[in-house]
Order: sequence, then C-alpha cells, then structure tokens
Amino acid sequence: MTTAEGARSSGADNFEGRRALVTGAGSGIGLSIVTKLLERGADVVAFDLDPSAVPAEVTKVAVDLSDVTAVREAVASLNPDEPIDTLFNNAGIGSTKNLVDCSVEEWDRVFDVNVRATFLMCQLLLPSMLERQHGVIVNTASVAGMIGLTDRAAYCASKGAVIALTKQIAVQWAGHGIRCNSVCPGTVDSPWVGRLMAEAEDPEARRAQLVGRQPLGRLGKPEEIASAAIYLASDAAAFITGTDLVIDGGITAA
Ligand code: NAI
Repeated sequence: MTTAEGARSSGADNFEGRRALVTGAGSGIGLSIVTKLLERGADVVAFDLDPSAVPAEVTKVAVDLSDVTAVREAVASLNPDEPIDTLFNNAGIGSTKNLVDCSVEEWDRVFDVNVRATFLMCQLLLPSMLERQHGVIVNTASVAGMIGLTDRAAYCASKGAVIALTKQIAVQWAGHGIRCNSVCPGTVDSPWVGRLMAEAEDPEARRAQLVGRQPLGRLGKPEEIASAAIYLASDAAAFITGTDLVIDGGITAA
C-alpha cells in the first residue's frame, strides 16, 4: 500500500469536521457511539433523558424524546451555524408483553420513543442536510424488527417500523447526498438488558436463556454495535444506503 492509499483508508474512518447528534447517548450503545465519535474527531451533540454520563466535551441536551414539543425545542436550541451532518437515532425503550396483554398506553409509549422520535428527528434535521446535499442517518433498529420474539409485540412492531422507515428515507433522498441505514443488534449486554435480568425471578437462568439463543454463545457488547453504526456513518460505507446491518451473534441465521 502506498502512503497515499494508507492516508485515504484512515480518512474514511475520520469524523473531523463532522457534527454528529446521538439520541439515547447517555447509556449503553449510544454512549459507546459517542465515545467512538470523539475518538475519531467528531463534534458531538447528545440527546437523552439523562445525559450526565456523557463526556464533558459533548454538547448535552436533556430531552424526553416522547414529547414532540420538547424535541422541537431541543433541536431549535442547537446552533444553526454548526449544522448536524450525522444523525444516530438510537434511543429506544422495550416492552415485554404479548399482544393480548399489551395496553394501548404501553403500545403508544413504545412507538412514541422508538418510531415517532426517529421520524421527528429526521424530519427536523433533514432540511439542513438537503440544503447542503450531504447527510448520514443511522437508526438503531433490532433483530426484533426482523423476526418474531415471544412477549415483544409492541417492541417487534416498532423496530420493524424503524427498518421500513430507514429504507424509505434511503430511497427518497438517495439522489440528494443522503444515506440512511439501520443497525439490527441481537441481545447486547447494556444497562437495559442488565435491568431486565435483574428483574427476572432467576437472573442467572434468564441470562443463560438469552445467551443460549445466540449461536455465538454470548451477548453482544455495546461497542460491537457502536462499531457497526460508526462504519455505516463513515465514508467507508459511501455506497451503502437502505440496508439493515445485523450484528446478532447469529440469532437470525439459526
Ligand atoms: P440503554 O437503556 O442502556 O440506553 C438507552 C438510552 O436511551 C438511555 O440513556 C435512556 O435514557 C435513553 N432514552 C430512553 N427513552 C428516552 C426518551 N424518551 N427520551 C430520551 N432518551 C431516552 O439501552 P441500549 O441497550 O443501549 O439500547 C439502545 C438502542 O438499542 C435502543 O433503541 C434499543 O431498542 C436498541 N437495541 C438494544 C438491544 C439490547 O439487547 N440491548 C438489542 C437490540 C436493539
């Protein structure tokens, strides 16, 4: 490899001069995305209910993404002279109900955060990306949007919607310098899953069950999902749009 080629290949992973916004940045996968963006030189904005765990050099915005007015105000509070060119819609909440047991309120809560906030963030940030004919969006979906998981009615439906919206955005704006992709994690050892296991009657048995359904025999790590999200946002993925990148230890292949 010549020096010039070497410089180019490291350049594809370089986020210097880019301004990225990450939702759900305060924990787990989102926090890992923030860390990797900072390592690669990006300027980062973090949206979360509680962004206190996010490093100090990041612009932190405490916002409830299920509140449409609050989301609009949060985006309006950003400096218009520093437009966002890279958006990670990563915030999400779960639901462990089957369809019969899922209340309308729970269904709506899951859709408000997982789907409507994704729609709204894209709607608010796309115009300035389109103005500059340059923008990248990475949505955190899930294998739950691809296969049926027991006791996950609203969650599966919401992540299926994220995958479909991702493809629609990709096709709509492909000719305008916009790329939009999703990552589809299997079960990942984030604080969220830690909470789920802690709440189980037998946490060890619950963990073993979650591990057991993933052929690679372990849970994913937040940084493994973040690496995939960073790749999709980087210039190395310049020819990728509308895809759903599965990082699941083989769960959907089984
Ligand atoms: P996490 O619970 O560790 O982090 C989620 C973050 O989103 C938290 O900081 C939380 O405060 C924030 N958030 C939740 N609701 C919010 C709201 N209304 N407004 C603002 N912020 C809000 O969870 P994790 O595991 O890092 O999940 C991140 C994404 O990955 C989610 O979209 C989730 O559905 C997805 N995912 C997670 C998997 C897992 O096994 N952990 C598997 C597949 C997908």
